[in-house]
Amino acid sequence: MTFPCAKLLLFLSFVVSLCTLVVALNPAVDADEAALLDFKSFITSDPSGILSEWEPAVRNHCEWQGVTCNTTSGRVIRLELTGTLDSPLAGILSANLGNLTELRILVLRQNSFYGEIPAAAIGRLRLLETFDLSGNNFSGRIPDDIAKLPSLSILDLARNFFDGPIPIGLIGHAPLKYVDLSFNRLSDGININPLGDCTSLNHLKLSSNLLAGEIPHDIGKCSNLRALLLDNNTLQGSIPADLGKIAELRILDVSKNSLTGRIPEELGDCRQLVALVLTNLIGSSIADSSSPSASSTTEEFNAFVGAIPAKVLSLPNLEILWAPRANLGGGLHDLFNPSCTLKILNLGQNYFNGSIPELLGSCVNLTYLDLSLNNLQGSIPVSLGVQCMAYFNVSRNLLSGPLIGSSGKSCTASFFPVHLSWGLLKLEDDLLTNYYANLLQIAQENNPFGKVPGEIYLFSMT
Ligand SMILES: *[C@@H]1O[C@H](CO)[C@@H](O)[C@H](O)[C@H]1NC(C)=O
Ligand SMILES: *[C@@H]1O[C@H](CO)[C@@H](O)[C@H](O)[C@H]1NC(C)=O
Ligand SMILES: *[C@@H]1O[C@H](CO)[C@@H](O)[C@H](O)[C@H]1NC(C)=O
Ligand SMILES: *[C@@H]1O[C@H](CO)[C@@H](O)[C@H](O)[C@H]1NC(C)=O
Ligand SMILES: *[C@@H]1O[C@H](CO)[C@@H](O)[C@H](O)[C@H]1NC(C)=O
Ligand SMILES: *[C@@H]1O[C@H](CO)[C@@H](O)[C@H](O)[C@H]1NC(C)=O
Ligand SMILES: *[C@@H]1O[C@H](CO)[C@@H](O)[C@H](O)[C@H]1NC(C)=O
Repeated sequence: MTFPCAKLLLFLSFVVSLCTLVVALNPAVDADEAALLDFKSFITSDPSGILSEWEPAVRNHCEWQGVTCNTTSGRVIRLELTGTLDSPLAGILSANLGNLTELRILVLRQNSFYGEIPAAAIGRLRLLETFDLSGNNFSGRIPDDIAKLPSLSILDLARNFFDGPIPIGLIGHAPLKYVDLSFNRLSDGININPLGDCTSLNHLKLSSNLLAGEIPHDIGKCSNLRALLLDNNTLQGSIPADLGKIAELRILDVSKNSLTGRIPEELGDCRQLVALVLTNLIGSSIADSSSPSASSTTEEFNAFVGAIPAKVLSLPNLEILWAPRANLGGGLHDLFNPSCTLKILNLGQNYFNGSIPELLGSCVNLTYLDLSLNNLQGSIPVSLGVQCMAYFNVSRNLLSGPLIGSSGKSCTASFFPVHLSWGLLKLEDDLLTNYYANLLQIAQENNPFGKVPGEIYLFSMT
């Protein structure tokens, strides 16, 4: 009985070797292997020996660590070598990478690659969809050719040393969904390709660069943006009213720029907005506000005028409003939504006047409230569930009356926001989670409550 079975096996192995032969005879497949070996030859440091088995004699290149081939064509479609902190790959990027013409995914994040991106090579990767070189030591300009890759949807070049401008036409390159260029040295302005189409763009993170000029009005054309992160640049002018056209916007961070002007009422049209970060006070203290030049690198420069429009304060999904020392003023009374979703509200060190709104008490999940150093008068509303808060600071106002009346309500709120199911791209979800974590970190760094969980801080009210 074993005989026909063995025959079948023999036949199958013949078929398999025939397939292998066909694949091996495909010159493009050989070229892929040559390109991978060439890529390897430029790697000067491989502490964990990831590439030690990248040897044709050991196994077929489609089985090399980090390499994925199309099973039909045998062509390399994915090269993914994510480094680890202690054992990153180092070297420059081979220009022959451009020979991997079927490559769709190129991920080399968290390594120590350096030098420039070989522009001509990347320009040849016409099928590239994901390009992730984040967390390396790349430098030079980001090649304009990237903005011409016809299928590119995810571009992550964050945490490198890129300088020069954002490639012409990048914002407005239709297939892009996710762009993160944060923590580089990019300069010049933010330009949106006037002939382009940015309606697919979900996530635009340009934080921590040297970008100047104004936030372009055209940003309103990117109508599906969920996260717009422009913090820590040198942007000027005011927040454009056109942002109100971005109905999908969840997170807007413009902190640490040189913005001025009024907070546009149109922001109140972004009904999905969860986090609005207008200023950021990490590292600076009011104690040395008399010498702003002393710690200019950590100072907040945004200085708006006027009030926060009622429509913004009453946004139906707003969980974080972070605007300390923003030069804002006016009254706050009854501006909040009766079904208020706020968890973190920081309006400290501004010029708000009038009384603390009674409606704030309806923000059942509010666990962080900083209204310190304003011109608020009257008493603390009993409705405020101060006993449930992780941080409460109303010091240095003109408040009077009893410090606290226990409202007797039970504390159901948890400080850590868990609302992250926004149905975003996987990668984006991760980053938004991190972003949220960062915001909480900010809150903790500014205040000692982390050390004394649950303790309530009440300060002298005059
Ligand atoms: C890449 O392809 C070019 C021609 O298309 C060829 O001349 C070159 O040798 C190839 N390089 C490698 C390393 O495969
Ligand atoms: C694999 O290759 C075949 C034939 O070239 C092609 O039709 C298919 O789209 C490729 N699939 C992927 C995932 O690259
Ligand atoms: C990468 O940059 C870091 C930080 O600037 C530096 O410590 C490290 O030596 C660089 N590595 C390489 C391979 O250039
Ligand atoms: C601001 O950007 C600079 C330059 O990229 C960076 O060195 C710094 O760490 C950033 N600061 C914050 C608070 O992110
Ligand atoms: C308060 O938080 C809970 C738990 O996260 C949530 O289910 C509820 O909808 C929140 N309420 C409001 C008004 O935001
Ligand atoms: C609050 O300040 C604004 C100007 O910033 C002023 O017009 C208004 O009268 C003040 N309101 C109160 C109650 O002091
Ligand atoms: C409360 O706010 C005041 C004024 O903004 C500030 O000086 C003080 O450090 C804050 N207290 C705590 C414990 O955060």
